[in-house]
Amino acid sequence: MRDFNEANVTDAVLGRMAECDDPRLQAVMTSIVRHLHAVVREVEPTMDEWNAAIRFLTETGHKSDERRQEFILLSDTLGVSMLVDAINNRKPSGATQSTVLGPFHVSNTPRKAMGDNLSLDLKGEPVFVSGRVLDPDGRPVDGATLDVWQTSGNGLYDTQDPDQPENNLRGLFTTGADGRYFFRSVRPMPYSVPTDGPVGRMLLALGRDPMRPAHIHVILAAPGFDAVTTHLFIAGDEYLDSDAVFGVKDSLVVTFVRQDDPEVAKALGLGNPFWRVEHDFILSRQRAP
Ligand code: BEZ
Ligand code: FE
Repeated sequence: MRDFNEANVTDAVLGRMAECDDPRLQAVMTSIVRHLHAVVREVEPTMDEWNAAIRFLTETGHKSDERRQEFILLSDTLGVSMLVDAINNRKPSGATQSTVLGPFHVSNTPRKAMGDNLSLDLKGEPVFVSGRVLDPDGRPVDGATLDVWQTSGNGLYDTQDPDQPENNLRGLFTTGADGRYFFRSVRPMPYSVPTDGPVGRMLLALGRDPMRPAHIHVILAAPGFDAVTTHLFIAGDEYLDSDAVFGVKDSLVVTFVRQDDPEVAKALGLGNPFWRVEHDFILSRQRAP
């Protein structure tokens, strides 16, 4: 077939995929082609606009490497990550809700003993975080892992900040039979998602706020339970309602209680005053496949 035009090019592209022997790939690509063509018909981009779009995606790729993932940031800031997350985590009510992974997780989080300090340079306001990992019936989960990471008191992750020691504010904890977890850290700060790349320029052009409310990231996993990627946000944070990546859920907002008690601080191995956070995580049971 030849002479493709506005009226027949969509069907022509879909027809070329008719022989695909992977039905899922065919369904996904059919949907992508249909929607992409619909966008082009609606927007009617000029050639300059289309070239600008190609340049934007090219720069997004060039900005990405093993330490920086501009495509994840694009997905996050367009709300796509939260939509995919919501579709894949339709949890029973009561279970800890999930939210974005973000681009700053590392795969080789260092193992820590319960109670260890995540902060290797102690820069920031001291915090004691504790609670339990529970099953849906309120029983403690033995052998649950908590993979934790957060920003320092300056709002930067170790991978963004050459002044921080490697693996600062990262730790992998495993619960015992009582399901308890506790660790020391510093209070995380609100921060801007990276704005020095094409996604940052997009946010600026759209008049959007690049800030995220302060949070501690946690990935929980335990045999027989669904893993959950989540955050602890801080009640009262000024960016809770304008998170640049749409990640805030009410159930994930916890209270940081200010404590001014030198003896307790000393017993916990923290400077005084300090913040205390108590939060239980509830895991949903894995369903049979
Ligand atoms: C984060 O929380 O680390 C994050 C999430 C999405 C985009 C940028 C950062
Ligand atoms: Fe974060």
